[in-house]
Formats: sequence, C-alpha cells, structure tokens
Amino acid sequence: MFDLTELRTPIVVAPMAGGPSTPALAAAVCRAGGLGFLAAGYKTPDALAEQIEDLRGRTDAPFGVNLFVPQPPPDLSAIAGYREELRSEADRYGASLPEPDPGDDDGWGEKIALLLADPVPVVSFTFGLPSAEVVADLHGVGSYLVATVTSVAEAQAADRLGVDALCVQGPDAGGHSGTHDPDADPGATPLRELLGAVGGRTSLPLIAAGGLATGADIAAVLRAGARAVQLGTAYLRTPESGAKPAHKRALADPRFTTTVMTRAFSGRYARGLRNRFIDEHDATAVAGYPLVNQLTQPLRAAAAAQDDPDGLSLWAGTGYRHATDTPAESLTAELWDAARPEA
Ligand SMILES: Cc1cc2nc3c(=O)[nH]c(=O)nc-3n(C[C@H](O)[C@H](O)[C@H](O)COP(=O)(O)O)c2cc1C
Repeated sequence: MFDLTELRTPIVVAPMAGGPSTPALAAAVCRAGGLGFLAAGYKTPDALAEQIEDLRGRTDAPFGVNLFVPQPPPDLSAIAGYREELRSEADRYGASLPEPDPGDDDGWGEKIALLLADPVPVVSFTFGLPSAEVVADLHGVGSYLVATVTSVAEAQAADRLGVDALCVQGPDAGGHSGTHDPDADPGATPLRELLGAVGGRTSLPLIAAGGLATGADIAAVLRAGARAVQLGTAYLRTPESGAKPAHKRALADPRFTTTVMTRAFSGRYARGLRNRFIDEHDATAVAGYPLVNQLTQPLRAAAAAQDDPDGLSLWAGTGYRHATDTPAESLTAELWDAARPEA
C-alpha cells in the first residue's frame, strides 16, 4: 500500500474540482516526486474513469482520487428565495436558472463502485467521512485513505473510523472548506495551531493545507508536525492547470485585492477572490450545498464564456499572489528546494 512518509517530495497537489485538476497536472507533480491528484467532484463516473486511464498513461507513480462525501438534504424554502435573487444574474448573462435537484449526491455510489472495481493508490474525502463499510471496502482493494478535517473533533472522528492519514485544512485555504457539517462556520484557528492541536490527539500522519505558497510556508508547517503539504492555489496558474483563463488572469490582476469566505456561489463556505458577484450576494446567500451550486452553475458557465471574472467563483487561498505560471514539475521542485531542511 502507498505510504505518505515515503514520498520523495512531500508535496501533494490539491485535488481541484471544476476544471483545474487535470491528468497533466497530476502527472507533472508525480514526476517531481510529489503526489498527483484527480478531483472526482462534479464529474460523471465515466469522465473520472477516463481521467484515471489518461493519468495512468502518463505516469507509473502513485496518485490519488478525491471524492465529495454526500451532504444531508438542505432546506429547500431558503433556496427558493435565493433563486429569485439570482434572476438578475441570469438576465445579465442570458442564462437560465435550473430547478434544484435534491437527489444530487455527486454520483457517490457509482464512483465508489468504480474505485473498488479499478483501485487507485490513494483516495481522499472532503465534506465529511465515508461509512465504515466504504473504508473497509477501499482498504480491502489496497487504497490508502485520507480524510480532510478542519477541527480536532473532525480529526478524532476520522481517526476512530480508521483512515490512514488526515489532510488538515486551515482557514486560509482556497476553495471549499471541508467542514463535515455543511452549515458550520469554517474555523478560524490558524493552520499551525490546528496542526499542533490535531497532532496532540492522533498519531496519524498529517498533510497540512491552506494558504501555503512559498518554501518558507512549507518549512513552517513541516516544523509544526505535518508530514506533507497540500497546495492548491499555488498550481492554479500553471500551464497544466485546467482553471479557466479568466480565473488564471484574475489571480495575477492587481484589481483583485483580497480573498473572502463566501457561500454565495455554492451554499457552502469557500474562499475566493472578492468580486462583483460576492459583493452583491454574499450578505443574502443561504446554506444549501449542492443545490445553490446547481443554481449558479449556468451563471458561472455563461460568465466564463463571456470571459467575465466578476461572475465566476475565483477560488483562491490567501497566498494567491505567489501563484505563478511556472510548469508544475519545476514549481514542485522549486518549492521543495526552498523548503527542505538541508536547503
Ligand atoms: C480551485 C480549487 C478547487 C478545489 N477543489 C477541491 C476538491 O475538489 N476537493 C478537495 O478536497 N479540496 C479542494 N480544494 C481545496 C484544496 O484541497 C486545499 O485545501 C486548498 O487548495 C489549500 O489551500 P491553498 O489553495 O491556499 O493551497 C480546492 C481548492 C481550490 C483552490
């Protein structure tokens, strides 16, 4: 079975659903001795199977697949009000608003079946924990399991469940917060403090994530007890990243001066560059992932087609100013050269 502590370069490229994660990006990080990841979120099981096949054609190194754990059904009445509010956005972009589908579980059962029939070295989870049965089944086919946690209580629950490692996500992370309770406020405990607290309660290896963008950032969390780091935003502008061109440009555009946590795009807290959509909808946004995400999907697609960053979810962690367009293999090597103790 895969062992996190045996990675030549203890850098994991974060799974980034919605386009940024590609087989080319995962393979590039694998070539540098890190851990490549595919993001199963929002993809059909068939599209995931194709990406796994593609990645296997590019590397023999171990890699991971990340899954969204299904959420409890949200309150439909609150979402109806937010849907009305979004009509102005639909008019602006010439898009239509779908009826939300409460049965959407992101193809969880089919994706688990796929990973049992055709196992991969590492499977990670976000937004909650899988059942003990899923853990036993995936262990049975030899996969190494990583649970994303944002608090000590979540870490303890994951430890009791028997996963192999924890991805400890701090408040500076780009994209969605992996809180197990979808309505919980994402914690504010700084990553290094969180690592210390989690490390005091579990002996599982920890992968630190959130706002890490430089060699110094990486060195600091390794000193704080992490065995590896997971970086997302740092890779968004690489040529291998499938992030939308408007997203890549916005990360380097001085007009975008800060990141904020918002539920406006998906009904779940996520960190992104502050833009017009957030300014107009953050205050009135409601809980309700994944239904709110379904509602804004055509709006975001239309904004992307019109190359308008102000209608897009520009996910980014607080270290976004350091994101470069360096190829991902070199970037991984450069980050590790700058971080490693003997450097
Ligand atoms: C664009 C984007 C998409 C993301 N998608 C996922 C995902 O599909 N699954 C997941 O577990 N984490 C996802 N994350 C969160 C990352 O796993 C990680 O916690 C985060 O990128 C770390 O913070 P950083 O972006 O500051 O490096 C995403 C992050 C970003 C920026």
